[in-house]
Amino acid sequence: MRILGIESSCDETAAAVVEDGTRLLSSVVASQLDTHGRYGGVVPELASREHLRAIVPVVREAMERSSSDWSDLAAVAATSGPGLVGSLLVGLTYAKALSFVRGLPLVGVNHIEGHIYAVVLEAAQRGEPIPFPAIALVVSGGHTHLFEVDKEFHYRLLGKTRDDAAGEAFDKVGKLLGFGYPGGPVIDQLAPHGDPSAVRFTLAHMKGNPLDFSFSGLKTAVLRWVKAHDMGAEIDRRRALLRTTSRPTVEQWLEVTPRATLDLMASFQHTVIDELLRRAAMVADSTTARALIVSGGVSCNAGLRAAARTAGLPYPAYFPAPGLSTDNAAMIATAAFPKLARGETADFTLRAQANLTLAE
Ligand code: KG4
Ligand code: ZN
Repeated sequence: MRILGIESSCDETAAAVVEDGTRLLSSVVASQLDTHGRYGGVVPELASREHLRAIVPVVREAMERSSSDWSDLAAVAATSGPGLVGSLLVGLTYAKALSFVRGLPLVGVNHIEGHIYAVVLEAAQRGEPIPFPAIALVVSGGHTHLFEVDKEFHYRLLGKTRDDAAGEAFDKVGKLLGFGYPGGPVIDQLAPHGDPSAVRFTLAHMKGNPLDFSFSGLKTAVLRWVKAHDMGAEIDRRRALLRTTSRPTVEQWLEVTPRATLDLMASFQHTVIDELLRRAAMVADSTTARALIVSGGVSCNAGLRAAARTAGLPYPAYFPAPGLSTDNAAMIATAAFPKLARGETADFTLRAQANLTLAE
């Protein structure tokens, strides 16, 4: 059963064809980084416009690369939330149109559940199914959630961020230091050049649910550090580099980034990783989970992947391949497969929901 997946919740227009929820036949992602990069973050109006431009060619390319005809498809699936409503509407409306014109069932998918299914697809491709129940840590630009997932894919929310998402913290710190948007990949690449124990951040004690996250205090601590150290000139040099080179190399960044700043970045990243994995380890005492699933854009982070292997976690950690970690439509087509099998199809009243939740 082939499913065409469509994803447009934020700043990537993506389409993919997945067979039986296990075989990736094609995955096309049109990134809007060049559009939003210069604004230091995603501009919703521009995102919608770019989705409109990209959606038809991206879907066509996904169909062609998978050598699929419309008659080969069992359904069309699209992200219905959470995300930017104007962005979601483009993918969802196009999916509805395809569903109507091609006579295909329509399946709505929660973007966060999609991120979890990225790991399921990756494991299936490797022929190494994930043992359940599992703990799922979804860490991206918009979300930082910890769930318990049973083998029927029922979700229980264990904790979530009370303020910034982990990826948002990476992006804000990257922007503050003059590295442009998104900050996550740059900080990841430069962190190994600094000392992660150089700057000690004291984090506020969380009242209430100890499995909740908070990253805004850390961001403020970095801001305070920047203000206390005279960094104006180096930040200007990095901003100037970004004006002349849209994607500077690590070597170019290193030329305009002193050791103290590399130490700050390494320490910031180390603190985020520590906060994430500490929660994932804390759950162990109160769960029968046999695996840790880590997904979402921040799961690309090399430091996080390395730490998850060496942190002595009580369960093995499963990450998607980097191409399936950030937003993509393969995860949407994969998540749609069991829904289609259960007959959970949607009609044309399916709405785009900016604040759709997966579990309360
Ligand atoms: O999953 P995603 O593509 O979109 C959302 O659903 O939000 O995640 C994008 C986020 C951005 O905040 C970006 O900075 C972060 O993922 N990110 C990373 C890395 N690659 C992307 N954060 C840390 N290290 C990375 N290597
Ligand atoms: Zn995402």
